[in-house]
Amino acid sequence: MAARRMGAAASATEQEEEGGGGEEEEKEVRSEVPDSLSGKYTGSFAYLTITERLPYIVTKAVDTLHRHTDTFFAQYGQEGVEAEKKAIGLMSKLRNELQTDKPVLPITDGFPDAVQWNKYLEQQQARLGSVENTSWFRAPWLYVECYMYRRIHEALLLNPPMCNFDVFNEAKTQGFLESQQAITALSTHLQKVNKEVKCFKETELKAELQRLLEVALWGNRCDLSISVGVSNPQKLNPLTTLDSLKPLILVDDFESVWCLLINSKRKGTSETACTRVDIVLDNSGFELVADLVLADFLITSQLADEIHFHGKSIPWYVSDTTKTDFDWTLKQMKTSCHQQMSSCGVAWENNVTKGVWIYQDHPFWTFPHEFCDMSQVANDLYAELQKSNLIFFKGDLNYRKLTGDRRWNYSVPFETALRGFQPAPLCSMRTLKADVQVGLKPGLGKQLAASDPDWMTTGHYAVIQFNSPLRK
Ligand code: F6P
Ligand code: MG
Repeated sequence: MAARRMGAAASATEQEEEGGGGEEEEKEVRSEVPDSLSGKYTGSFAYLTITERLPYIVTKAVDTLHRHTDTFFAQYGQEGVEAEKKAIGLMSKLRNELQTDKPVLPITDGFPDAVQWNKYLEQQQARLGSVENTSWFRAPWLYVECYMYRRIHEALLLNPPMCNFDVFNEAKTQGFLESQQAITALSTHLQKVNKEVKCFKETELKAELQRLLEVALWGNRCDLSISVGVSNPQKLNPLTTLDSLKPLILVDDFESVWCLLINSKRKGTSETACTRVDIVLDNSGFELVADLVLADFLITSQLADEIHFHGKSIPWYVSDTTKTDFDWTLKQMKTSCHQQMSSCGVAWENNVTKGVWIYQDHPFWTFPHEFCDMSQVANDLYAELQKSNLIFFKGDLNYRKLTGDRRWNYSVPFETALRGFQPAPLCSMRTLKADVQVGLKPGLGKQLAASDPDWMTTGHYAVIQFNSPLRK
């Protein structure tokens, strides 16, 4: 493939020699910021993703449009069919640019966030030294992967009757429906816990929080980006597998999360302060349900008084949650024939109505920036997050953005990789699906790599990583 030749500016061997990506983890922590993961490192997961996985995702989006010709005709007549053809043309062009390693182009749809995207492109051109260096295989992986989803959206925005069409909707719906058994098991468990929670001793409260937090953590295995849109549901009762999964949690800062919440609850009863928890959501389907179950428990246990959910404003990384997905999930739960599922749905809609649960979105979540840029690029969002007592960041992409998607040594402290992003105490809950990992005990990364070369990209392992601006 042309892209292979043109993009191969640095090889995996060079990557090792540079000491990035954890290869020199035993050495002293470096003070400078390492290079971004990129398709220029031949053989890396970024390279594999750009070569194979991203074109496949665009192809599936095109197929989805093809399969909906009748729907577009029924809804918008011939105008709908013409729009569909044009959108397919734009997506095919996008795939071609990607596969032939063309430089990234400005966004042309005039949508409000286009200004920010184009400014970012100019900055990248300046940083990388030329327009050519902002090509798919040479630019940072995080940038081009985010850009691909923005361009898929552009293809629809430029063809107005299709503006609101979500090319990933079917896959997300299927993910939810195929996880039914796991969802009913979890709903039944939650309803039982909610009846008993008022009488819980602190030890029981802690054990239950840990259980539901781990269910939400492993729910992150169900994303449809890693599976390139192929169904990836939760089949087993998630509660019965937690013990066997425990050794796969490489960093477990649950204790810090617990201490923060229980201390806040103890203070709250004396000072009537409100504890706000934010959840920066990731995937719709089983993972979203698991997050909502955790959020429900935080409220009923009075470990939190208010939950703010942050979703995506455009379809993103195949399965990420949009407002439509959030509302759809609540409705599916409420109208389910399964009594416990339905009870959850009713309670959750009430939480929204009462303002105890607040759904928010912000364009920053679908920008390509590292989170350390948030205070500059989206000061309003940063200020909003500063009001939180604890922010959960769900999933792999959020982890990549927290750490800048860089070739950090594995034992670099999480705080170093955050590079000043500390709006409030935060906790990343992520299964490993990209080759960036920090905060490991010295030697662990090397050990894992020796037993499984793909340990960072299969979702087999996970981390619960905490950082607090107050924790020094
Ligand atoms: O691993 C492939 C990938 O597309 C990564 O680029 C991305 O980080 C991840 O999948 C998405 O995972 P999540 O849904 O957990 O953010
Ligand atoms: Mg996702």
